[in-house]
Amino acid sequence: MTIAVCPGSFDPVTNGHLDIFERAANNFDEIIVLITGNPGKTSGLFTVEERTELIREVTRDIPNLRIDHWGGLLVDYTTAHRVTALVKGLRSSLDYDYELPMAQMNRRLSGVETFFLITDEKYGYVSSSLCKEVVQYGGDITGLVPDVVHEAMREKYR
Ligand code: PNS
Repeated sequence: MTIAVCPGSFDPVTNGHLDIFERAANNFDEIIVLITGNPGKTSGLFTVEERTELIREVTRDIPNLRIDHWGGLLVDYTTAHRVTALVKGLRSSLDYDYELPMAQMNRRLSGVETFFLITDEKYGYVSSSLCKEVVQYGGDITGLVPDVVHEAMREKYR
């Protein structure tokens, strides 16, 4: 049984994330979407509970996916849950530069492997941060996040 974790802040989940979840779920027996603390991102738009609920709503069709959250070191979670793989999306060389040391550190700490999926070109420029900025100033991000997420974001900034 191969269990993979897709870790991230997911504040909120985008269609780019969802595409990675679907593709990861096609290649591993089980996927855990893990909402994880990022020390570089202090205040979130959504609470962990809200992020969880939004992810739950948009991943109902993926039977081998579950959602969890974790406030400690990622490798402590993967070791405790017998997870042997991390799966992340790569949009560009900027992501590569950001992800490479984390993948190497996580492997050094615990042996966990990181698998990168190349982001679908439709979502190459999509990030939670950019989506939040556009919605905050009244812009339309239809198609870049699930409709339920778009509505929840508009509600937050109303
Ligand atoms: O979506 P993000 O915010 O870019 O995801 C980054 C994240 C949450 C995966 C990363 O910050 C992380 O792994 N945080 C958990 C704490 C940890 O293990 N830090 C050491 C990483 S080598």
